[in-house]
Amino acid sequence: METVVTIAAVRAMVRGWRKHGHRVAFVPTMGNLHAGHVSLIEAARRHGDRFVASIFVNPMQFGPNEDFAHYPRTPTEDGRMLAAAGCDLMFMPEGAEIYANGPERATRVEVPGLSRILEGEVRPGHFEGVATIVAKLLHIVEPDIAVFGEKDFQQLTVIRRMVADLCMPVEIIAAPTVRDADGFAKSSRNQYLNEAERALAPAIYSTLQAAARRLAAGDTEYASIEHAGFKALEAVGFRVDYFSVRQAVDLNAPGPSGALVVLTAARLGKARLIDNIRIERA
Ligand code: PAJ
Repeated sequence: METVVTIAAVRAMVRGWRKHGHRVAFVPTMGNLHAGHVSLIEAARRHGDRFVASIFVNPMQFGPNEDFAHYPRTPTEDGRMLAAAGCDLMFMPEGAEIYANGPERATRVEVPGLSRILEGEVRPGHFEGVATIVAKLLHIVEPDIAVFGEKDFQQLTVIRRMVADLCMPVEIIAAPTVRDADGFAKSSRNQYLNEAERALAPAIYSTLQAAARRLAAGDTEYASIEHAGFKALEAVGFRVDYFSVRQAVDLNAPGPSGALVVLTAARLGKARLIDNIRIERA
């Protein structure tokens, strides 16, 4: 695996592959990789034949009181994991390579509506930061395919909308959430939990599953399902930002048909955890 830090080097490499007719698949990350990220590379391998991963902790998507400065950075271990997963190219730019005039003055991409609800309501500006960096990375890498995790379901939805709205010539692939044996979704932020908090954390997924069971059985009392989930997590000790039933396609309130998704964000100690579960309907 090659490691490069400049936009020019990524472009030279990818254009070389393209000339030989290779299909290029791309996995953007913020590093501190775990089995969830590795699963995205594995998904990429099913769809392409050359693989690029980026590692960039994007300042624009962090709020002023969030964990940008403390976000875990483990580049050596990340490089080992990507190489072992069969990645061909790791792009690890410095901040100035991406935001020549600083993130505050950079041109921004906004996906209206979708980026202001749920996570966007609690974290104003977050999805502008995500959409902007993903648009830039897609322009830099110019992949045929880009892979994102369903773990960040709203992010995936925002990116699909941006790619459609801006006519970007890339296929977006979604990969399922990788969990620990007890159901807790893997995340770089899980290490903010102490042992006692970690023991409570699986309640997030079991509470989502309880909601999913009601929905799968045809229950349409959405407000009651949301209230029950909210209260169940509070009872365990979480401070819940939202527990919400939406239609999967656009995260609007549920309509009469089509897949649903239950999304939650909850704080435990120093960690803010998000998870979701999708329910297919006729
Ligand atoms: P990061 O949190 O590093 O996640 C990178 C990718 O890994 C995202 O697509 C995310 O959904 C996926 N992922 C994280 N945990 C996962 C899990 N347990 N199972 C499956 N996939 C998982 O998401 C970001 O970075 C950033 O916002 C980014 C898109 C890179 C833009 O900066």
